Amino acid sequence: MDGRFLNRVAVSALLSVVAMAGAFATAQSVVPDTAPTAPVFQLPNTQSVAVLPFLSHADQVHGGQLVRRICAQCHGLVAGDESAGPVLDGVVGRNAASLPGYAYSAALRQHASQAWDDQRLADWLMAPARYAPGTRMSFAGLSDPQDRADVISFLHTLHTSLPTPTTGAAR
Ligand code: HEC
Repeated sequence: MDGRFLNRVAVSALLSVVAMAGAFATAQSVVPDTAPTAPVFQLPNTQSVAVLPFLSHADQVHGGQLVRRICAQCHGLVAGDESAGPVLDGVVGRNAASLPGYAYSAALRQHASQAWDDQRLADWLMAPARYAPGTRMSFAGLSDPQDRADVISFLHTLHTSLPTPTTGAAR
């Protein structure tokens, strides 16, 4: 390996760097950089949102309208009303996946030790599939925190068979 050989190696290395830089510069001037500076769409909020501030001025009538329009497609609202989903009568304060005779998904049964309090209901209703991945409740969720609070305040009124403990946001 003599000095001239090393020289040639060095020169060819230098030339390829120069050629690459040239190609890069040309490519950049030919193909404009169109990457947006701001995200094109926002991913849905994945953080739990405290329900209490919204519950304090919840509109129960509006909640009832939402429940009848959306939830009642799958859920019975009075005890004994069998539907695709578990009856919502007495749901506030009862443990998740605890209705005898209803075939809950394994995903929801993982939460069986937890009672449905206001905050858990809010987290669940925000995005059921995120709260219990694999749940059979095929409902995207209520994105508006006030809608969730309105629905929950209405759910408090559904207790023909069980007393409804008010569990607040306690966890
Ligand atoms: C497309 C049908 C469908 C819609 C719409 C729907 N649900 Fe459900 N829901 C289900 C099913 C099915 C389950 C059982 C899920 C499982 O076992 O994973 C369920 C479970 C639940 C549970 C848990 C009950 C328990 O006993 O643990 C609650 C609470 C609930 N839904 C509330 C609601 C509310 C409130 C709405 C309206 C905002 C709603 N759901 C809309 C089908 C639905």
